[in-house]
Amino acid sequence: MKSKANVLLLGSGGREHALAWKISQSPLLGKLYIAPGNPGTAQHGQNVNLSPLDFERVKMFCVDNDIHLVVVGPEEPLVKGLHDSFLSDERARHIPVIGPQQKGAMLEGSKDFAKAFMDRHNIPTARYQSFTVETFVKAKEFLSSLNPPYVLKADGLAAGKGVVIVPTFEEACQNLEEFFAGKFGEASQKVVIEEYLQGIELSVFVLTDGSTYRILPEAKDYKRVGEGDTGPNTGGMGAVSPVPFATSDFMKKVEEKIIKPTIDGLRVEAIPYKGFIFIGLMNVDGEPYVIEYNVRMGDPETEVVMPRISSDLLELLLACAQSRLSEVPISFSPNTATTVIAVSGGYPGTYEKGKVVGLPKTFPADSILFHAGTSLVQDKLVTSGGRVFACSAVGSDLNDALNKSYQLANSITFEGIYFRRDIGKDLSNR
Ligand code: AMP
Ligand code: GLY
Repeated sequence: MKSKANVLLLGSGGREHALAWKISQSPLLGKLYIAPGNPGTAQHGQNVNLSPLDFERVKMFCVDNDIHLVVVGPEEPLVKGLHDSFLSDERARHIPVIGPQQKGAMLEGSKDFAKAFMDRHNIPTARYQSFTVETFVKAKEFLSSLNPPYVLKADGLAAGKGVVIVPTFEEACQNLEEFFAGKFGEASQKVVIEEYLQGIELSVFVLTDGSTYRILPEAKDYKRVGEGDTGPNTGGMGAVSPVPFATSDFMKKVEEKIIKPTIDGLRVEAIPYKGFIFIGLMNVDGEPYVIEYNVRMGDPETEVVMPRISSDLLELLLACAQSRLSEVPISFSPNTATTVIAVSGGYPGTYEKGKVVGLPKTFPADSILFHAGTSLVQDKLVTSGGRVFACSAVGSDLNDALNKSYQLANSITFEGIYFRRDIGKDLSNR
């Protein structure tokens, strides 16, 4: 390979802007392309009008543009087999992809697969059983053996909406009926019912080449739209890293009881895996339990994880692709990073797009504005999604970082702008 690597990054959200921002800082980078990208990613590379789900065009672009590495942001292309499509194509086989093949992507693509994998490898997770419409009666029996609240999960990908947690047995049964009746189409033909875990959530990120792994900075995500963690679930309204309750003792348990058995399990089962693993876990009285695996980085967590990585991310990704991650250490900044998500009024329900955005002339020191749902229309920056910006900042402590994130959020204007004012407050009071 030439000394400089040309990279194609797939995706278009705040996560991809943060990845592009970090990758573009590498002296190893040749050209960076982002498909389809957004006006934020265009500050760090060249956006390409290409859908990550159009595998043929993605591969042809890579061949025609001498791409040395493909980095996949979202899960859908992986679950649908983008990596396998590269491997089975003579023209594209030599181009490494960061993100697992379809088999490994099932850790996110099928909750039943993920739960059975955890069972096989003694990885702590909530007790569960899986059901289909044929076993509806058994599903009700299992529900009645659990204590409320009840947790039901559509087996397949459901755009982050496939989990319901309800307080009564009756509601659980009704949701079960709706799932089987096709509430999430194919994704809810199978349903995982599991024990409710009481605790506090943490997002842990690992980069692996299939044998070695590197643990990235952990983060806490704020999922509900309303202050005090109220209202409907969203893609994420803010994030903080590091997380005070992720002490070195706790993280040791995460590594020994979850990360190592996960990587070993993949190897033992001959599931090839090069890429990120995002472990959503619950801290239950100091013990970690896996809630879910994702086969990608988190959003908005990436917008606080990237600013805390001091190492060269591209060097790590290239080493991962070449199965020599063991040669490249990772180091973090001891500082705190925070992000506050500015969303369109009405999100996560219906909202209007196309609102003209006003940005300040200068940004606060140590702040980074990541674009999520923006686009350029006749040279004007307008809103084009529910989550519009991630207002990230780095500070010497949590309050310092939060002050800068909020200063940035307060300096942005568009009609209907909303953001939570309490990101990180639960942690600064602990
Ligand atoms: P998931 O899509 O699996 O991340 O689930 C969405 C959210 O539901 C999680 O972030 C948790 O807040 C919650 N959740 C999922 N499973 C459980 C569980 N077994 N106990 C308590 N909360 C859960
Ligand atoms: N922030 C949660 C996710 O990316 O799924």
